Amino acid sequence: MSTVWLILIIIFPPRDLFTPIGLFPVDPARISLFSTSLCRRSLQPRVVRRGTEGRRIIPVRMRRCSGMHFLVLRLRIRKTGGQGLLDGIFSGTKRRLGNQCTRLFLSGFDGLSGPGVSNVAIKAPRKVSRSPYKVLDAPALHDDFYLNLVDWSSHNVLAVGLGTCVYLWNACSSKVTKLCDLGNDDGVCSVGWAHRGTHLAVGTTNGKVQIWDASCCKRIRAMEGHRLRVGALAWSSSMLSSGSRDKSILQRDIRAQEDFVSKLSGHKSEVCGLKWSYDNRELASGGNDNRLFVWNQHSTQPVLKYCEHTAAVKAIAWSPHLHGLLASGGGTADRCIRFWNTTTNSHLSCMDTGSQVCNLVWSKNVNELVSTHGYSQNQIIVWRYPTMSKLATLTGHTFRVLYLAISPDGQTIVTGAGDETLRFWNVFPSPKSQNTESEIGASSLGRTTIR
Ligand SMILES: *[C@@H]1O[C@H](CO)[C@@H](O)[C@H](O)[C@H]1NC(C)=O
Repeated sequence: MSTVWLILIIIFPPRDLFTPIGLFPVDPARISLFSTSLCRRSLQPRVVRRGTEGRRIIPVRMRRCSGMHFLVLRLRIRKTGGQGLLDGIFSGTKRRLGNQCTRLFLSGFDGLSGPGVSNVAIKAPRKVSRSPYKVLDAPALHDDFYLNLVDWSSHNVLAVGLGTCVYLWNACSSKVTKLCDLGNDDGVCSVGWAHRGTHLAVGTTNGKVQIWDASCCKRIRAMEGHRLRVGALAWSSSMLSSGSRDKSILQRDIRAQEDFVSKLSGHKSEVCGLKWSYDNRELASGGNDNRLFVWNQHSTQPVLKYCEHTAAVKAIAWSPHLHGLLASGGGTADRCIRFWNTTTNSHLSCMDTGSQVCNLVWSKNVNELVSTHGYSQNQIIVWRYPTMSKLATLTGHTFRVLYLAISPDGQTIVTGAGDETLRFWNVFPSPKSQNTESEIGASSLGRTTIR
């Protein structure tokens, strides 16, 4: 029998202690002997049968070693069919580990030269700091799920609604400016920066929508139309959409004289989530009626209606990477993040997060999302898409994390809660620092063995 030895070293972070285990679908006919060692500890692996997938290598125990795990597999395999095994290892590793596996070294495979038989680097895991790098006090920041009180401008200015006032915090200079005080008869329910970063829309308790010029702290418009509080705002160039407790969404063109140009009716309860797609052609809205609707630029009726969530839909995010890919999250009775293809009007997947989903933001720099949660952990989760494996879970807020905004460079998020703090977290890399999937693909000798 002609055999070769394969030395396989996998380095992976300690958190995912058991994820790499059983990652190789092993055809026992191709392996006559194998052994594993881990951090100088010899381990006797088990081979278990798993349904139709054949057998898997299950090391008995894994140990930590300077913060990382080293799994060394020494495989003696038959030459014939070895390439198929290698392909299985590559695709199995990629599928199970996503980007957590730092390195996959292969050696001793001279007898099996060919595509994929070389050192293959899988993208290094990103360290996400578990603590905020800054905490700001935000006295009187409301603990109200239906409000949207924090937004970060393209000019790097954070707007925060605190009670009857809006404050601006300049992230470059740390300078705080009080933009406005609506007085005792009104209150701030939502803030939203126009894309160019000079104008801020403010939705109020009395159903007004005000436009402020932040460069001179002047109110330039006050628009009527809603009967009740305005908790959601979304800009699309000069168009501003406002969602209200009166169940309606008003479309406003701030260049026009009229306060609003059209009224979108469909929700049967308060509108609390509102996001325009990146191409400004589709508006997604979520309501306390558990409904997620999608409207186009001209419709006054929803073009798509999704009824799968079983609690209020406040968390909405469009993918900046794939046209027509929409994510939504449900409240306490639902706890799910769902993905939709709005091009084909289909439900793609569902992830039960275990807690109320309050916000979702999709990173532009990497294909990952961040969600913020309420009961019971008040956590912030960074997810990889589409595997929905957790990259990090950040805790610290003592109230549900109702507010979320992302910095203009896409690297930092700020979260706000009824614990009256704003916390700043470094969660995403800069766009430049990314090894792209295609670079990894290119390193595997022109053949896609890692998908
Ligand atoms: C949506 O479905 C269409 C047609 O099947 C497909 O081409 C597109 O890639 C899908 N988009 C997403 C985000 O899944």
